[in-house]
Amino acid sequence: MPREDCCSMLLALVARFLWLCSVAGLENGLARTPPLGWMPFERFRCVTDCVKFPRDCISESLFMRTADLLVSEGYSAVGYEYLIIDDCWMERQRHEITKELMPDRERFPRGLNFLSDYIHNKGLKFGLYHDIGERTCMHFGPGANGYYALDAKTFANWNVDYVKLDGCFIKNINLDIAYPAFGRELNKTGRPMVYSCSWPYYQKHPNYELIKKHCNLWRFADDIRDAFDSVGKTMYNYYKQQKNLTKHAGPGHWNDPDMLVLGNYRLSYDASRLQLAIWAIIAAPLIMTNDLQTVRPAIKTLLQNRAIIEVDQDPLGIPGRCVYIAGSFQIWVRPVMPFNNIGAHSYAVAFVNIGNYEPCPLCPQTYEVVLKRLGFENDLGYKVIVSISLAILKYTLHFYIQILFTQIFEDLFGSMEDLGLFKPKDKFITRVNPSGVTFFKFTSVDMY
Ligand code: GLA
Repeated sequence: MPREDCCSMLLALVARFLWLCSVAGLENGLARTPPLGWMPFERFRCVTDCVKFPRDCISESLFMRTADLLVSEGYSAVGYEYLIIDDCWMERQRHEITKELMPDRERFPRGLNFLSDYIHNKGLKFGLYHDIGERTCMHFGPGANGYYALDAKTFANWNVDYVKLDGCFIKNINLDIAYPAFGRELNKTGRPMVYSCSWPYYQKHPNYELIKKHCNLWRFADDIRDAFDSVGKTMYNYYKQQKNLTKHAGPGHWNDPDMLVLGNYRLSYDASRLQLAIWAIIAAPLIMTNDLQTVRPAIKTLLQNRAIIEVDQDPLGIPGRCVYIAGSFQIWVRPVMPFNNIGAHSYAVAFVNIGNYEPCPLCPQTYEVVLKRLGFENDLGYKVIVSISLAILKYTLHFYIQILFTQIFEDLFGSMEDLGLFKPKDKFITRVNPSGVTFFKFTSVDMY
């Protein structure tokens, strides 16, 4: 291995080790990068009448169909692996004698071991919803209160790989005690299960120091809806708490802003790009909620964009933040691999136009920024990924003209090639659609 590569790898390992030390938390060895998968709630809610709504009801057939599509439509190949049942899967009462939870007999006639095997045979993983309190959030079935050990064992017997534990109906329950206690019961089963906690969402002043010791991911924001304002609200919520949130996330434990709503009814193409880019910047779990059979081809391409998923799954696991916000304009930055041979990060950068910029809120806007203002300090510069078609044009132009042309370059959503060198003092220009984003990777250049 060349000496520079060796140094660079060593630096990366040291930085990663330091980062891990600073955010050390739950070590069940799971979720080293944010989990990717699918969950029905935002799209399919709590539809239980399978006679009237056979395609939409929460049933064995919805999950089998989705398992098939995750594989046949190429989603599993790019990393979407957890197929998670949300609320409304249970019988309304526990078993009269054993007190075990039971899946609804009509909608899951072959039981959860059958479904779990089906999902595992597809090479996917199986997730299941539960609630720490008295009832599930839709007031549907019994919560775990009083039955932590039994429910953890039942989940292990069903070969569950991922538990989403909600926090409704918690009168007289101290979440700071209950969530760790349930987590310990999961661990006692000996079956590795990703532990997704809604814990902080139900508290005014969450103790993230404690939460990260017990959970692989945690919800910090309201339930997302299939609308741009809901995505924007979640982003703003993160921004307000980012000092705290970024401190605690890292390999094994992640901030969860809720599901990806791409592929449904209300997000435009640009807003779909925006949700995906920001979720990747903040190292969020990418859990889709949609009907995989009806996702439009353009949105499917977005969801399967390897460059974006690579940012989300960056091995350093450092969550990004919003570094600039003014009017309609936001800039979000995440340090990512690779390091150069003197230890400077690369960066993923999302330029956001929320779309309320007067005098023309619904027009594309041009933004200019001197990269140093984003915290870029590598004097050797950064290579930017742009589209192949424009690469040819760019090679023919002199450097200063290249910068003038930056605004027409495609971003990580286009086909890619590393091109162009930008130094910290250089101005970067990009044009962003309303309720949209442009998304670039700035790769730090090595000293030769
Ligand atoms: C809460 C959660 C949602 C979903 C529903 C199910 O609202 O935040 O993600 O699980 O409960 O009832």
